[in-house]
Amino acid sequence: LYPCSRRCKWMLLNKLQDAFATVGVQNPVDLPQIVVIGSQSSGKSSVLENIVGRDFLPRGTGIVTRRPLVLQLINRPKTEDNSSKEGVKDAPEKAAKAANGKEETSNNEEEWGEFLHIPGVKFNDFNKIREEIIKDTEAKTGKNAGISPAPINLRIYSPNVLTLTLVDLPGLTKVPVGDQPKDIEKQIREMILKYITKPNAIILAVTAANTDLANSDGLKLAREVDPEGSRTIGVLTKIDLMDQGTDVVDILAGRIIPLRLGYVPVVNRGQKDIDSRKAITAALEAEKNFFENHPSYKSKAQYCGTPFLARKLNMILMHHIRNTLPEIKAKIQAVLAKYLLELQSIGDPLDDGLNNNANIVLNIITEFCTEFRTIIDGNSNELSS
Ligand code: GDP
Ligand code: NA
Ligand code: MG
Repeated sequence: LYPCSRRCKWMLLNKLQDAFATVGVQNPVDLPQIVVIGSQSSGKSSVLENIVGRDFLPRGTGIVTRRPLVLQLINRPKTEDNSSKEGVKDAPEKAAKAANGKEETSNNEEEWGEFLHIPGVKFNDFNKIREEIIKDTEAKTGKNAGISPAPINLRIYSPNVLTLTLVDLPGLTKVPVGDQPKDIEKQIREMILKYITKPNAIILAVTAANTDLANSDGLKLAREVDPEGSRTIGVLTKIDLMDQGTDVVDILAGRIIPLRLGYVPVVNRGQKDIDSRKAITAALEAEKNFFENHPSYKSKAQYCGTPFLARKLNMILMHHIRNTLPEIKAKIQAVLAKYLLELQSIGDPLDDGLNNNANIVLNIITEFCTEFRTIIDGNSNELSS
């Protein structure tokens, strides 16, 4: 997730996922997905991009996100081995980029994207990822504002992310434009519901702060699938565009529409920043300055902005995983039982290799569960803050 420089608890999770990969089982455990929902142009793609900490999503006024984007972040530890291999293979490309003066992409050999629809092609340049998202969106929906429920699947491999899935979705809209179907509102609703109904989805309900919270499409839809509000975070965007003298202090204090997990105000890049290609680091710096210097927020600046949202997400994910540990264990045991049965039916006494693999996985999983519980229990004070 959000740049996690030190070896953190998420390493355990990554280790578990690796353990499954060893025996060729892809994600038997349904880990939480983070899904952004809200009205068109409320800032969903901007929020997601800031959380990931990389520039790669199409953003802008009007309907820009027209198909679901299922973004799998995959942690890939930095190793001597990788860096030397990649270093040699990508050296010419790197040199060419450096010569072009594009230093933002020149140190990228550790991070890359890959699309399900173009297997085996590594995208080291995140601008190219954005171009491909636009291209494939147009290929399925045309250029004239059409929509499609067919997701674009993108994987990002990086040493700086938690292995986790995030979903960017088209925004709720009421009046069809261009090639959009007459029942556009219903179609987008159904598209969104498909992702947020899953009990393991964590919903980021995005509302622009310069619109009325009571009319928030995101909050309304979130409430339908999560009436208790146990997996919905309110995100208030465009705080910088609010009328002078107004603020979201009452919303944050839960005095307008209370939300159990609360609200986080953020400032994303505006259209001018997008047009001038303002870098994400500069945007996060500007966001920090905004909250620290604003009379309404400076006393609570630590609870504002993208870094706080990322921390909140981490905390919720940890709790979510802790609560599903028994279920995860049961699934693991079922998978193992199935393998052991298969091994027995093969009945080859020489086939110790496989049996060994199963044992290794079992050990890692047991270790994982123990370690994870320890960490969570040890951190529960920090986590519930
Ligand atoms: P989406 O349609 O919900 O995915 O929204 P986008 O992320 O594409 O953003 C829509 C437009 O709103 C873009 O022009 C963004 O620059 C702008 N925008 C989003 N968040 C903010 C914000 O916090 N402040 C400002 N000033 N503009 C924002
Ligand atoms: Na938009
Ligand atoms: Mg969008």
